[in-house]
Amino acid sequence: MVRGSSGQTVTLHLSVVLLPAVMVILREGLCPGLTAEIINILKTNSIRTVVDLVSSDLEEVARKCSLSYKTMVAIRRVLLAQFSAFPSNGADLYEELKSSTAILSTGIASLDKLLDSGLYTGEVTEITGAAASGKTQVCLGVAITAAHSLKQSVLFVDSTGGLTASRLLELVRSQTEDEEEQAEAMQRIEVVRVFDIYKMLDALQDLRWSLSQQVTSSLGPVKIVIVDSVCAVVYPLLGGKQADGMALMMQLARELKTMARELSIAVLVTNHVTREDGGALRPALGRSWGFVPSTRILLEQTKGFCAEPTNRRIVTLTKSPRQPTGLQALLEISTCASLGAGSAASGGAS
Ligand SMILES: Nc1ncnc2c1ncn2[C@@H]1O[C@H](COP(=O)(O)OP(=O)(O)O)[C@@H](O)[C@H]1O
Ligand SMILES: [Mg+2]
Repeated sequence: MVRGSSGQTVTLHLSVVLLPAVMVILREGLCPGLTAEIINILKTNSIRTVVDLVSSDLEEVARKCSLSYKTMVAIRRVLLAQFSAFPSNGADLYEELKSSTAILSTGIASLDKLLDSGLYTGEVTEITGAAASGKTQVCLGVAITAAHSLKQSVLFVDSTGGLTASRLLELVRSQTEDEEEQAEAMQRIEVVRVFDIYKMLDALQDLRWSLSQQVTSSLGPVKIVIVDSVCAVVYPLLGGKQADGMALMMQLARELKTMARELSIAVLVTNHVTREDGGALRPALGRSWGFVPSTRILLEQTKGFCAEPTNRRIVTLTKSPRQPTGLQALLEISTCASLGAGSAASGGAS
């Protein structure tokens, strides 16, 4: 018994928390003892489903249907065991979360602060921004930090051709001068180039299969999956005559979320932006995709004198389960480093 917010007493019936399968129709073979004859008798007394049976007064049912009370109790016990959810409490869930969640630094102090310490395993984080805003550059920086500083393996799924060895090398050189360390870090980044959504799904399913079979390389299991860009393979499928475009996008969404959660991987994806009528930037792929990332950031150019493009970028937190949205940070895109005091400035909450 617990006391409710208005002082009333609420009784918790944990023992009969039934799964959605409660609408299961009673049928022969569902459990031992549930014969066709018993099912017919129950049906004539309006007891057709599992929930009808487990929630009824068995003494009354046995009397009305002229059935053995002992048999009915045995049937109910088996049905409850088959269809009840396993009860768990908040403390169990928190312990499970603590043991399965890791927070991986992006290597950019101001961005880490915006993300409440970094990228969380079990979640999908999305970088949105216009062309040349620095999405690929941040992904490369994250990959290098994970591979070099955190000694974690990374899968980088590149669908735009933005990943080049020279760009990676430039970034790894900014982190270490030791050539052996540079080579080791580069080896931890597995690159898969894909040109359509089918190849992207193949790459992700291959990884899920190898991790579930515990087929890991000598460098350890993959902890970060970077998909740059989701938009590039999904956009061509939407609208027009591509009837299955939305279904494929949802399959990709499911694959990424399942992989993050079940294999405790931090998934980082990039997405383009579109401009609304009022001029504000909005992530591409619409609302159906919007539920996929738990956390979203927007990268924007800052203009220098005479509106010259610079390497400075403003990052804005636009979606987060932990931090207020609207927080902002500054970063230097060429070296993937924080700018200013390295702290996230507070913007207006959106
Ligand atoms: N191969 C490259 N080497 C060095 N800098 C690059 C390269 N390609 C792009 N850049 C620069 O990096 C910045 C960010 O580009 P990028 O990360 O590719 O943007 P996005 O992925 O958002 O389109 C841009 O200013 C761009 O000029
Ligand atoms: Mg790019």
